[in-house]
Amino acid sequence: MEFDDIETIAVLGAGNMGHGIAEVAAMAGYDVMLRDINEEFVRNGYEQIEWSLDKLAEKDQITREEADASLDRITPVVDMEEAVGDVDFVIEAVPEKMDIKKDVYGDVVEYAPDRAILATNTSSLSITDLSEVTERPGQFCGMHFFNPPVRMALVEVISGAHTDERTLELAEDLAEAFGKTPVRVRKDVPGFIVNRVLVPLMNEACWTVEDGTATMEEVDSTVKFDIGLPMGAFELGDQVGNDVTYHVLEYMNEVLGEAYEPCPLLEETVEEERYGKKVGRGFYDYEGGEGAQIP
Ligand code: 3HC
Repeated sequence: MEFDDIETIAVLGAGNMGHGIAEVAAMAGYDVMLRDINEEFVRNGYEQIEWSLDKLAEKDQITREEADASLDRITPVVDMEEAVGDVDFVIEAVPEKMDIKKDVYGDVVEYAPDRAILATNTSSLSITDLSEVTERPGQFCGMHFFNPPVRMALVEVISGAHTDERTLELAEDLAEAFGKTPVRVRKDVPGFIVNRVLVPLMNEACWTVEDGTATMEEVDSTVKFDIGLPMGAFELGDQVGNDVTYHVLEYMNEVLGEAYEPCPLLEETVEEERYGKKVGRGFYDYEGGEGAQIP
């Protein structure tokens, strides 16, 4: 396939990452099929895109016309055949569980045209393992966006053991067309580059509180003002989703060893469904408005 042949993109999963990726693709002029497993999930994702485009327009980062045109390019769907039946590129952003992703790919390969390139937004899972359920492993790669996709400039493009060079080039060109900077990840290891560095940082922040060295607020202030990261470690955890961080870490722990053992403080957020901003509470409480208790 030539890059210019890419016109329609399916984004599977309308959650935190999926809706953001769909928004970015629509803003770049692509027709987007936004798919999730039920009407409610797709509607929520669509409404978040609407909110985000409004916000960008209010701040004159895009025009009102661009916001409306971007929204018009997005078709929310539940049916998988309708979602992928006539698309050139599929970006999957369903929950970070190998079984769920494999089930989704089982359906995708049934309906997606042979020409379609398949990319997963997995944060850490093996690209090679996922590619092997697609019957077209050469046309499969990782395309890892960062939260929030509309604001974050980087996309990791990850090669699995079977990925064709042409697939990687198309994914890189697409990331650039989205206005992003692609970085090629040459080895299919858990966490790739960013999460390999960032997720242990977030886990270590938890251990620092767990062992009584500092409070969450003290760790976050240090990380922001002394180390110079844009957000504190706990703020970032709440932004990314504590369930996402936990699953990445669990997988790194399983594959890379005990240095990646999840801290109980992080584990508790998942047990208590304090997943972060998306549910209004995480390490911090957002019920009283975004960032209500962030110092
Ligand atoms: N669309 C539109 N507007 C949005 C938005 C979105 N999706 N998300 C937030 N905003 C708005 C906020 O509502 C706020 O609006 P307000 O000013 O009216 O209240 C505004 O953006 C905040 O933006 P600012 O530029 O004023 O604030 P910052 O300068 O703090 O920038 C940030 C925000 C870009 C998110 C910055 O804090 C940052 O870069 N944080 C780090 C994020 C990061 O590292 N993400 C990667 C995590 S790792 C990951 O995702 C991988 C995964 O696999 C785990």
